[in-house]
Amino acid sequence: MKKNDLPTPCYLVDRGLIEKNLEILQGVMERTGAKILLAQKAFSMYELYPLIGSVLCGATASGLYEARLGAEEMVRPLEKQGIKCENHIFSPAYREEDFEDILKYCDHIVFNSLKQLEKFGKRAKAAGKQIGLRINPECSTQEGHAIYDPCAPGSRLGVKKAQFEEITEELSGLLDGLHFHTLCEQDSDALEQTLDAVEEKFGCYLKNMKWINFGGGHHITRDGYDIPRLESCIRRMQDKYGLQVYLEPGEAVALNAGFLITKVLETGESDLDLEGGGRLGIAILDTSAACHMPDVLEMPYRPPLQNSGFSGEKAHTYRLGGPTCLAGDILGDYSFDHELQEGERLVFEDMAIYSMVKNNTFNGMPLPVIALQEKDGECRIVKQFGYDTFKDRL
Ligand SMILES: Cc1ncc(COP(=O)(O)O)c(C=O)c1O
Repeated sequence: MKKNDLPTPCYLVDRGLIEKNLEILQGVMERTGAKILLAQKAFSMYELYPLIGSVLCGATASGLYEARLGAEEMVRPLEKQGIKCENHIFSPAYREEDFEDILKYCDHIVFNSLKQLEKFGKRAKAAGKQIGLRINPECSTQEGHAIYDPCAPGSRLGVKKAQFEEITEELSGLLDGLHFHTLCEQDSDALEQTLDAVEEKFGCYLKNMKWINFGGGHHITRDGYDIPRLESCIRRMQDKYGLQVYLEPGEAVALNAGFLITKVLETGESDLDLEGGGRLGIAILDTSAACHMPDVLEMPYRPPLQNSGFSGEKAHTYRLGGPTCLAGDILGDYSFDHELQEGERLVFEDMAIYSMVKNNTFNGMPLPVIALQEKDGECRIVKQFGYDTFKDRL
């Protein structure tokens, strides 16, 4: 099937673009010996897990279901081909009723607090698992997105230095590694700054560990990301403390590797004048920011749209909105060289990450089709959803 024949709305993921990202990550692993895992929370299109797992060292999960998906779709199928993948998990608090299954699926279990370590640590150790503790280096390196800052005051994420100092010998004896996750779409200068805080606050404990996990938020595959600086951060922990370094990016694995194809349902005019003259047009699409790209509203951010400009940059400017009841279900103001036509297809970019994993059926909105574009340009529908998907969740 050709791209233009795909039904809309449709998430289209491009295998070649995923491979391009994986090559960059593979380079980092080869040059440094660090192990990189896929954070499934960002991208769980498991059709591509065999590819991802054949390059990366495994996956990490936020809870039992992602852990099971990683085990069933990446670890086990690749094991049959003689490829070994690791399956990690971190959750702020585990449910007692999930824990036996978590032990079944995961080999690395990271706890968020000394209480959680006390509650589950011995069981995990007895089951032969690698045990980690998430630390909070209390080092905020990002501005403007408090919701994505695990180091913000009052954070529930990770053990702070003052709490760590109260660890008993018995509990510290259970630990194989430390984990931190503090970054969001950042470059390696922020990692370097974070490592200063980690060393200052937790350096004395690092000597007793086997590994350290730098978490996610490293925008390694973005143009201009400072990879040599990342590699020197990795070597610093290896050389000084003899640690195995893990990274668990989500975004970097599927950054700029997917599209959301949508169709114009209706066009009209708003009551707003444009600065350069003329009226702001309105176009209602068959995709919804609230349902299909929730980060556009949550982050918030402006998704790139092919063949478009900023408001007023091209001749015709439209406010693009979804077909739900939510007044704020707006994808943004975009301008075009021509007047938009009913039925016309628009292609949003960078729609592989935090899109299909976060979507919902508010207003009874259908979920977008999930499709894969192969390297020869051929497209294939991987998943299609209907009324039953909507009904089954209610
Ligand atoms: C513990 C942990 N690891 C990894 C990630 C992946 O982050 P990103 O997709 O920004 O690389 C996250 C994201 O929230 C996280 O909380």
